[in-house]
Parts: sequence; structure tokens; C-alpha cells
Amino acid sequence: MSSTHTPPQTMGQQYGRRSWAEPWKIKMVEPIHMVSREERARAIEAAGYNTFLLRSEDVYIDLLTDSGTSAMSDRQWAGMMLGDEAYAGSRNFYRLEEAVQTYYGYRYVVPTHQGRGAEHLISQAVIRPGHFIPGNMYFTTTRLHQELAGGTFVDVIVDEAHDPTDLHPFKGNIDLDKLTALIERVGAAQIPYVSLAGTVNMAGGQPVSMANVRAVRELCDRHGIRIYLDATRLVENAFFIQEREEGYADKSIAAILKEFCSFTDGAWMSAKKDNLVNIGGWLAVNDEEVFDLARNMVVIYEGLHTYGGMAGRDMEALAIGIEESVNDDHVASRVGQVRYLGDLLTEWGIPIVQPVGGHAIFLDAKRFYPHMPQDHFPAQTLAAELYLDSGVRSMERGIASAGRDPQTGENRYPALELTRLTIPRRVYTQAHMDVVAESVKAVFDGRATTRGLDMVYEPKYLRFFQARFARR
Ligand SMILES: Cc1ncc(COP(=O)(O)O)c(C=O)c1O
Repeated sequence: MSSTHTPPQTMGQQYGRRSWAEPWKIKMVEPIHMVSREERARAIEAAGYNTFLLRSEDVYIDLLTDSGTSAMSDRQWAGMMLGDEAYAGSRNFYRLEEAVQTYYGYRYVVPTHQGRGAEHLISQAVIRPGHFIPGNMYFTTTRLHQELAGGTFVDVIVDEAHDPTDLHPFKGNIDLDKLTALIERVGAAQIPYVSLAGTVNMAGGQPVSMANVRAVRELCDRHGIRIYLDATRLVENAFFIQEREEGYADKSIAAILKEFCSFTDGAWMSAKKDNLVNIGGWLAVNDEEVFDLARNMVVIYEGLHTYGGMAGRDMEALAIGIEESVNDDHVASRVGQVRYLGDLLTEWGIPIVQPVGGHAIFLDAKRFYPHMPQDHFPAQTLAAELYLDSGVRSMERGIASAGRDPQTGENRYPALELTRLTIPRRVYTQAHMDVVAESVKAVFDGRATTRGLDMVYEPKYLRFFQARFARR
């Protein structure tokens, strides 16, 4: 009897190399299970077809976000027991301050409860009504804080970032001509800082090159403009520099991170991503005057300047997380897992943002559902369909996230209409990625008959978090 069975192959064998594995083993597990199709249909309808409004117990594999969803290490959990819960002067704050100074290289540190707390402080400290803030593509909370402080965000990212098929290795770069044109149009005095993010979340987790940040620094120095960095995923950015930029292959992630920061004047941080904690953030600057303002303001909005909304134990876990986050093996396996999922989908002809970025796979909903107008929320629809198929939770990064223009009140129509499958750090295995890939394929195969959504409830701020939708 002849057999059609082909022997199974490991990932390494499929790619003609030796396999690699995560640089950790699992010590504690959290059971998960899939609810039935009927329950999923009920849950997503009750959630107004918004995956942010689902209960997590109705979710099987949760790829909503990589924010605050990391697994902490045994060292971090041990550190939690060393929390110094003093209102003022907690020793854990000084450990955190030292970790930020050591690995990011900035002089002054203000702790905050998470990234947007730091965005609030820096925006209120330096933006005045009528200011313009150029940046490499907007981020939802960042831009809103800039607008609430009276500023207008101006996108100066390279054109390639808006094309999901373009293979440019550094699609997060700032276009120096666009930045120069803005400086000439409004004058350097009206630009409090350049808002530089690495990697760029909304572009698909795309990196900024060292050459680009160096050039932006030179340009800004000529005009006396500061550069503040969104360092949320800068460790992943450093990995791409190590991999793709000439002269960096033999440099450590830690060295690249610090060099990158040296071209900037400060950074805000959502420590819930790169820094491997479930809650926390910080603002760090080199300018004493800006520090003084931020340190004073933090007591109004977050807490005293030696805890900023975090418990002592949170700051200890964060200090340890910073140190662990720059481990080269950790970063390679983190980005490697994202790439594994991306490679499967690419092989199967499913439209995703290329090249695959650092923290997520972004499904290109415009090419997924070419029959669906952007007003029918293709990316939101795709997130709902994925949940219905398998209980996998993703999120929208398209017209709902883009919101309305504050001047005209009209919807913004972003070029990128994406559904984000965000991979938490140190949480899921390769088998989970296989289940996700198969679900995306099943939804892709059924795409022709899928109908879009109408928005039936629209909150004023950051509408994507709480908006409700109905089937068309
Ligand atoms: C690039 C970027 N900046 C800022 C933030 C805001 O941080 P947080 O969610 O901790 O407030 C996030 C995450 O939401 C982000 O992805």
C-alpha cells in the first residue's frame, strides 16, 4: 500500500536552518478555554462589535494588545516582595530612576501610572496654543494630549509608511523634506519639539534607523528644536537596527538603545510594553527646567514625584523589567515569534503590512475586504469576524481609531485600515500562533460575503475604545 504521508517538519527544517526556542521555561500557567460559537455570537453582539468591550473570560487567545499583558519573570515577582510602600522616597523609585538613567541615558526621571500620564505631562509642560508638533505618524493618545494642550499634530513620516506593501526597511523614518517644509511654513519658534516614535505602532510596528534620528538631530539643532521620543517599543526598534543597519550587527541591543536616545532630549514611556510590566510608565528628560515643570505637575495628576501612581512593588518590577528587556536573546525571540505568525500568513497569500514589525501582525483590511467602503469599518468588521470564528481577540487600527478632525469635525480617512493581532511578550507559544493563523485563513476564505458595520454610539474622545457598532 503506498502512503501519501509526508513526514512532519520542524520550523527550522522548513526554513533550512536549526530551530531556535524561547530563552525561558514556563513556571506558572493560567488556564484558557474557547467558548462555543453561539456564546461568541452573543458576546460580540453584546459588546457592540467592539473587541474592547468583550469580557476577557469570553476570549480564547487574547491579541488585543501587548500593553500590560506581558508575563513577568520570577525575578520580577520576587522583586514585588521588596516593595517599599512609603508615600515619599521609596527605595524602589531610586532603583527605577537608576535603571532609566543606565539603559536610556536621560538625566531626570518622573514616574507615571502609564504612558499617557507621561504624554500628558510633557504636552502640558511644553506645548502652547498655536504650536505645531511634527511626528512620524500619529498615535491615538499622544496626539490627543498634544491637541488638548493646544497643539496641532503634523505627520512627517516617509511616504512608504502609508503603503502596506512597500518593503522599505525603516518605514518609521521621518521625511526630512517634510520636516523642513513645516519649519519654513510655521517657523521654528512654533514647534516645541519633534515627536519621534520608535517603532511606529500605527504604521505596523515599523522602525526608525539610527541614520535617520542622527539626521533629524542635526536638522533640529540648526533650528533650536527639541526632540522627544516615544520610547514605548524602542527596544524592538533597536533589534531592527541591529539586524538591518550597517555597522550595528555586532552591537548589543543595550548599546543601540542608548545611542538612539542620545540623539534626543527626553522620552515618554508606556512601560507596559518593552519594559515587561503590567502597569507603569515614566517621563525622562535632560533639561532641568522641563523636569522641574513635569515633577511639579505630576503631583496634581499622578501622585508624588517618587511614585507617580505606581506602588513601590510596581517600580521594583519595572526596574528589573528594564534590565531584562534589553537582553539580546529575549528581543530576538520576541520579534521572532511575531515573524513566525507573519511568515505563515504571507505564505498563504493573506494581505498584511510588510515588512512584519516588532509587536504585531497588521492585517490589511482594505485588501481583505475590497468590496467594503471605509465608512463600513472594514478593520473593525475583521476583528469581529476573527473573534466569531475562533475567540481570538484583535483590534481595529483604521478609521475608528483615527477619529475626527478637531477643527472640521469630519471623519479622518487614514490610508491604513488595519486589524492588529498584537502578541503579548513571553505569554503564548508557537501552537497558539498556529491556531491564530488558521483562524485568519478561515475568515479570509469567507471574506466575499462579509458585510460591514455602522457606528451606533460614538464617544467624544478616543472613540475606538468605547464605540458601539451594529451589523449593516
Ligand atoms: C506608541 C504608544 N505610545 C503611547 C502609548 C500610551 O501608553 P499607555 O497605554 O501606557 O497609556 C501606547 C499604548 O497604548 C503606544 O502604543
